Amino acid sequence: MSVRISPSLLAADFARLADEAAAVAGVADWLHVDVMDGHFVPNLTVGLPVVAALRRHAALPLDCHLMISDPDRWAPDYARAGAENVTIHAEAAAAPVRTLRTIRAAGARAGLAVNPGTAVEPYADLLGEVDMLLIMTVEPGFGGQPFLDLVLPKVRRARELIARHGGEIWLQVDGGVDEQTIGRCAQAGADVFVAGTAVFGAQDPAAAVKALRSAAQDALAGRPAPGAADGGPATRG
Ligand code: DX5
Ligand code: ZN
Repeated sequence: MSVRISPSLLAADFARLADEAAAVAGVADWLHVDVMDGHFVPNLTVGLPVVAALRRHAALPLDCHLMISDPDRWAPDYARAGAENVTIHAEAAAAPVRTLRTIRAAGARAGLAVNPGTAVEPYADLLGEVDMLLIMTVEPGFGGQPFLDLVLPKVRRARELIARHGGEIWLQVDGGVDEQTIGRCAQAGADVFVAGTAVFGAQDPAAAVKALRSAAQDALAGRPAPGAADGGPATRG
């Protein structure tokens, strides 16, 4: 299974987004953009103009995670703004099939996210409409929260649903992913890893991405995680 790392700009310096994006450009696979509306989640971040600007100034493909109350209204615009992936929340979408199809029709990959308390099984019949499932490993809204191990059985079940369905559907985890937790996620079947604090909170974000990738690959190969004993790389700020 391939390992894709998607650093979350939520933990980056918002006044220097292009520089922060450049810091992981050669090593990460995607750039995760957390869009929060202060309604679906109690936090407010960035919207369409910032995504459009990032598209012009950042080299990596944009992985937009919409934590907003009305994704049916807004998600297609993120695809049209040039995001390579647009993920909507199952809890928020009133018409997920139509919205996922509209995202794809606009040329982006379509993602469907579920919160820790939301079961994935009710969405099994929608797998033909998605390119990625996102299993939240924290309650959405804030970076820097501790990883929720209780979600790992759902990651395994989601991987089984995908295997039964067939086709290439990516399985993403988001929240509390670091050098210590990424291995458990990989072993449970995740193949796209979002990490905010673990990347942009590190002194060297590029080195942090490499360390995360190695830790995931080591776990898949059955090797013990490097740095597990010393708490991982130094953090800044
Ligand atoms: C949380 C966001 C995450 C967040 C992860 O609601 O969806 O993408 O940036 O941050 P860390 O990696 O710090 O948990
Ligand atoms: Zn996110």
